[in-house]
Formats: sequence, C-alpha cells, structure tokens
Amino acid sequence: MPNRPFIVGNWKMNGTRAMLAEARAIDRAAARHPSVAVGLAPPFTLINGMAEAVQAIAVGGQDCHVAASGAFTGDVSAAMLDDAGASFVIVGHSERRAGHGETDALVKAKAEAALKAGLSVILCVGETADERDGGKAEAVVGRQVDASLPAAEAANGSLAGKLAIAYEPVWAIGTGRVAQVDDVVIMHRTVRERLFAAYGEPGERLRILYGGSVNAGNAIDLLAAEGVGGALVGGASLTAESFRAIIAAAGPDEG
Ligand code: PGA
Repeated sequence: MPNRPFIVGNWKMNGTRAMLAEARAIDRAAARHPSVAVGLAPPFTLINGMAEAVQAIAVGGQDCHVAASGAFTGDVSAAMLDDAGASFVIVGHSERRAGHGETDALVKAKAEAALKAGLSVILCVGETADERDGGKAEAVVGRQVDASLPAAEAANGSLAGKLAIAYEPVWAIGTGRVAQVDDVVIMHRTVRERLFAAYGEPGERLRILYGGSVNAGNAIDLLAAEGVGGALVGGASLTAESFRAIIAAAGPDEG
C-alpha cells in the first residue's frame, strides 16, 4: 500500500523506558488503522526496546552519522540503527541544522549513508520565520531540497518507499503556530517540483509530509490538503491519547 499516509512521531530528547507503555498503546492504535503507515522515532536509547515491543509500527532514529563505524564519540551509525531494530531515520531536522550546524551537504551524506545501510529516510526541510516574512520561503526550501537530496543510486536503484521529505516550517515547530493549508499546498508543490527535477517520474511518487504543531484538531485539514502524504509530529506524539487521534484523522478504524 505505497500510498498510505505516513504518520510519524518524533519523540526528540524525550522518553525513558517507562514510556514504552505509550509506544505499545500507539502500536495497538496503529493496528486498528491498517490504511495508515505509522512510525515512531524515539531517542537512541529506546530504539531497541521499542522495536521489540511493537508490531504494527515502524521504529526509527532521529539522526545518524555518515560513517558506518569509527572514532566518532557520541555518534551512532545507520548500520547501528538497523541493528537495533530501526527501519528508518530522520535526517536534517531543523533542530539539528540549527543546534548542530548541519549543512545541506552533511544532510545529503547522512541520507545516502542511511539508504546504503538499508534504512528508509525522512529528510526535513523548512524555512525560518524571517525567510517566510521576507517572501523567500519557496526559494529557501527549493534550495534545501536540491542540495540535500540523496543521489538515487544510494538506494540501490529504487527510491520508492525509501525516501520521504518532511516540510517543516521552523516557525511552526513546537510553537502551536501551524502553517495555513494554502501555504502548505504551495510548499509541497515546490518540493514536488524539485523531486521531479532530481529524480524524474519516480520523484512523483515519494511522500511529502507536513510537520510543525500538528495536533488532533488540525490534522484532518492538513492531511486532506493536496500533496500532503502524511505528518511528522513532535509534541503530540508523546502520548498515545494525542497521537492516536492523529492516526485516526489519517484513516478509518478497521479494528
Ligand atoms: P511539533 O514538532 O509537532 O512539536 O511542532 C514537529 C517536529 O519537530 O518534527
């Protein structure tokens, strides 16, 4: 079911083993909505435990190093994520671009490393408030996509189901300020054009997710917007109660 909406929770630096109970509850909710693909990206420390605790959802990392192994204190490689039970990784999140100085070139290298290790990739892009206010949102995001997309060869031939882009306006992340649906449609169209320019026809089929203050109240409208293939959810993915409502907004309960 390649066109299933993809609802992904990003737990960021939140969660100890006690929170695996939330993951189990989210897993049960995901099982009732088979028309929705659901993923959770906990901190590294919970990946293995979560992967062993769930069945219906994919487990992912929030970052990976470009190298497979080596003298990189504190880093984790894509192969290690895979070994721990992850099937995808988020790269280029704005909190890493801003807080760790990650450039488009580094994000591209991480995406390629992850694909080579057999993981799927969610690659994040998004403009700041100043860039949007200055009328530069489309140009900035277009440039980010161009410069951070992995080479198609890194996915062993086929990118289908292996790469998703998350459009996350920086000013909407964790702020409660969600983007207007009209703007989301325009930005997703911009991303789609860049995917087509980079990959040709296969670029038409890659999912583009929206992220930034998605919650149970706004999910239905955002997910119904043209070109929106799912959501990347931070705060509202931390409890089963709030994340379940977003999963339910993406597809019917068939439980
Ligand atoms: P938020 O975070 O839903 O808390 O705004 C989204 C994200 O950073 O992926």
